[in-house]
Amino acid sequence: MKNLIAANWKMNKTNEEAVALVKELTPLVKDAEADVVVCPSFTVLKDVADELKGSNIKLGAQNMHYEDSGAFTGDVSPLMLKSVGCGYVILGHSDRREIFKEDDALIDKKVISALKHALKPILCVGENFDQKEKGIANDIIETQLKNCLKGLDNQQMKDVSIAYEPIWAISRGNPNVKPATKEDAEQRHQFVRSVLNNLFDENTSKNTRILYGGSMKAENAKELLAMPDINGGLVGNASLKAKGFAEIVKAGE
Ligand code: PGA
Repeated sequence: MKNLIAANWKMNKTNEEAVALVKELTPLVKDAEADVVVCPSFTVLKDVADELKGSNIKLGAQNMHYEDSGAFTGDVSPLMLKSVGCGYVILGHSDRREIFKEDDALIDKKVISALKHALKPILCVGENFDQKEKGIANDIIETQLKNCLKGLDNQQMKDVSIAYEPIWAISRGNPNVKPATKEDAEQRHQFVRSVLNNLFDENTSKNTRILYGGSMKAENAKELLAMPDINGGLVGNASLKAKGFAEIVKAGE
């Protein structure tokens, strides 16, 4: 299965900075075997889309509302994302869950809406430090998957990727935070796949890309991406520099 390497820029990069970053990135990944996606802030999507024309890099957003339009001050709809050229959207990121109190039911609505508009969701799941210490990480992950994929069929799952992001391993801009070990990450990814196997058919669980997220960088990407059930990465901090991100893209080849 082809790896998917997605850049989650979070709330970083002004318009000029964003365009400069993709200008530098485009030639570095032009021969990449992996699918490459960049997910900038809403305000810079259009200019980044223009810069990406003719390249192999796809555009994604970091969030969206589930309605097409309406009285939702400050929000952005799937139609708007489509109209600027997005093909992907990150949904249920732990920042959205923890800081903005998004719950599974809301995220499920967003996943269904994204698919209706031919946007490919990257659905994030993962436990926090306390949940890991209590030994309930798998319960958390299973509940999130069941609730956020409710109502989807095997056909729709073809366009869905899962990002397993242990919250305790997310850098939040701190390069000293350690990722999960490759063995621990692989175990969780196997668990995610087993849950998908219960929810959907075997083909779906086998072919769904499960990305790892949490302090993935050039130095550790190779060993993580070499694990059989790690099919890509959702990269935050290390995606803010073109060279480092390009190395991650190549690390899985
Ligand atoms: P990180 O972030 O790579 O900076 O740890 C990943 C994420 O939150 O998606």
